[in-house]
Amino acid sequence: MTIISIDGVHKSFGDNRVLRGIDLVVKEGESLIVAGRSGSGKSVLLKCILGLVRIDQGSIRFHGEPLTDRKRTEFLEHFGMLFQGGALFDSLPVWQNVAFRLLRGKQKRPPGEARAVAIDKLGRVGLEPDIADLYPAELSGGMQKRVSLARAIAADPSVIFFDEPTTGLDPVMADVINDLIRGIVDELGATAVTITHDISSVRAIGDQIAMIHGGTIGWYGPVADMDRSGNPHMEKFLGRHRRVDTQAQVPRNGSDRPSAPDRDG
Ligand SMILES: Nc1ncnc2c1ncn2[C@@H]1O[C@H](COP(=O)(O)OP(=O)(O)OP(=O)(O)O)[C@@H](O)[C@H]1O
Ligand SMILES: [Mg+2]
Repeated sequence: MTIISIDGVHKSFGDNRVLRGIDLVVKEGESLIVAGRSGSGKSVLLKCILGLVRIDQGSIRFHGEPLTDRKRTEFLEHFGMLFQGGALFDSLPVWQNVAFRLLRGKQKRPPGEARAVAIDKLGRVGLEPDIADLYPAELSGGMQKRVSLARAIAADPSVIFFDEPTTGLDPVMADVINDLIRGIVDELGATAVTITHDISSVRAIGDQIAMIHGGTIGWYGPVADMDRSGNPHMEKFLGRHRRVDTQAQVPRNGSDRPSAPDRDG
């Protein structure tokens, strides 16, 4: 069953025609990857779905109905999000970050109950109850990412978006996060949309992959088929990341990303 359908979506900023007719469906219970080079419009597409930017043309539907402001509110109630960089609230302890949506608004619960849910969700991402009262600044980067994951699933969402979930993590922690995300999707039966540059995330998390190129979907298909897509943009995406992996193994190379990842697209 289709949860989100995107038809002929266009979005420009001045002369910059970022999205030029995006057609894409997100099906219930699947894990969809949105890939594409930097600046190709992945985040803009996400913002269009969330209603943070208004589309110029086309339609976005949720369960077959146009995402009007009212429908979007309904959509957001069933929605969880892992923001790039975690985006935890520095001034709130870990448990209140995780339980953020359970402490206010429509899903508000008594604080004791919200805290119990937070501790349960922390457990799901491999964190002990004793970090519940710490502040984000007291945690390592990988732990912060896990707390963000716990927050994304706190209200038992049916649709979860992950924006660059492994960016900035070392390869070992990236694998841990990828496995957690895949586990969350499988366990919750949730629908996941993951924006990523990271080819190991694509393989670990994704069922389907949509590659944005030139403002449209340049290639779409099962992750299992992407290595033999025969599509030049997909080949470039895979090839570029093989080069990144090689570079990362060279000692004293300070960066695990090429200095100009976009120029070769
Ligand atoms: N609010 C905005 N106003 C003007 N231009 C914007 C705005 N948001 C995005 N853009 C432009 O849209 C294009 C696509 O940006 P977007 O953030 O979607 O890229 P991306 O694919 O997510 O890249 P990255 O992988 O680096 O995150 C860029 O050229 C960007 O400058
Ligand atoms: Mg982006």
